[in-house]
Amino acid sequence: MGRLTGKHALITGGTSGIGLETAREFLAEGAAVAITGRSRERLEEAARQLDGPLLPIVSDAGDVPGQAALAARLQEEWPRLDIVMSNAADVTHLPIEEWTEEAFDRLVATNLKGPFFLIKALLPLLSRQASVILVGSVSAFIGHENAAVYGAAKAGLLSFSRGLTYELKDRGIRVNGLSPGPTLTGTFNSLGPERQAAIYDELRRTVPLHRIGTATELAKAAVYLASDESAYTAGTVLRVDGGIGELAY
Ligand SMILES: NC(=O)c1ccc[n+]([C@@H]2O[C@H](COP(=O)([O-])OP(=O)(O)OC[C@H]3O[C@@H](n4cnc5c(N)ncnc54)[C@H](OP(=O)(O)O)[C@@H]3O)[C@@H](O)[C@H]2O)c1
Repeated sequence: MGRLTGKHALITGGTSGIGLETAREFLAEGAAVAITGRSRERLEEAARQLDGPLLPIVSDAGDVPGQAALAARLQEEWPRLDIVMSNAADVTHLPIEEWTEEAFDRLVATNLKGPFFLIKALLPLLSRQASVILVGSVSAFIGHENAAVYGAAKAGLLSFSRGLTYELKDRGIRVNGLSPGPTLTGTFNSLGPERQAAIYDELRRTVPLHRIGTATELAKAAVYLASDESAYTAGTVLRVDGGIGELAY
């Protein structure tokens, strides 16, 4: 029997990277999995790579009213929801001079406000042993280039693991953060191969474990937080970051 047999899981941003690998692990552990993304095409491409009971749903995590529509869709399909992984993110990194109010609002809507209203909308569907996983970032803990807005939104998101666990504990709902360090995914693709290679070299030098993590390593940690094995883990943040959030280098 799988570690998630009989459970229903939602992963926002499940078409690539950590979300896609987590969908793969959840399915392998026996869960039924819904994934979201912004386009039908990318969801179809992800579905071709996955095996098992999958529900792909077009949904923009930054569309705050749209979170209720996502919850309503899940309510139509499933009797309950046991796992929510808020993983979709706007990863815009800019120097302060280049931020517009519109871009700032968009990032905060996607990374902080949308996840909050998604959890609110999902409450009637969440089972009594539900696990909510909020994907943060090491940027919530350490400062680095052009990451002020992204880091602040991720710090706010991870803070929900404490505030919402407190508020939802009597319903049996646990909320935990999962905080990746530098992880090999498509996130840096838009930078082009040269800049990407330079960033990876720099990261290999500065991450205390001297390597970049894999999406599978994050997905395995998500399985732990999603499963009943973590039943006594609540309101905390699990850092899977090669030590970069905690250790000097
Ligand atoms: N990779 C790293 O080094 C790293 C480090 C720290 C934290 N993280 C965090 O880990 C999480 C996953 O990152 P990743 O590296 O796996 O990224 P990725 O490979 O770029 O995947 C991002 C996923 O989010 C979806 N997405 C983006 N914006 C969305 C939106 N507005 N609505 C719905 N879906 C949206 C994308 O789907 P579509 O494009 O199909 O819509 C895709 O499925 C993020 O929360 C990120 O902040 C990553």
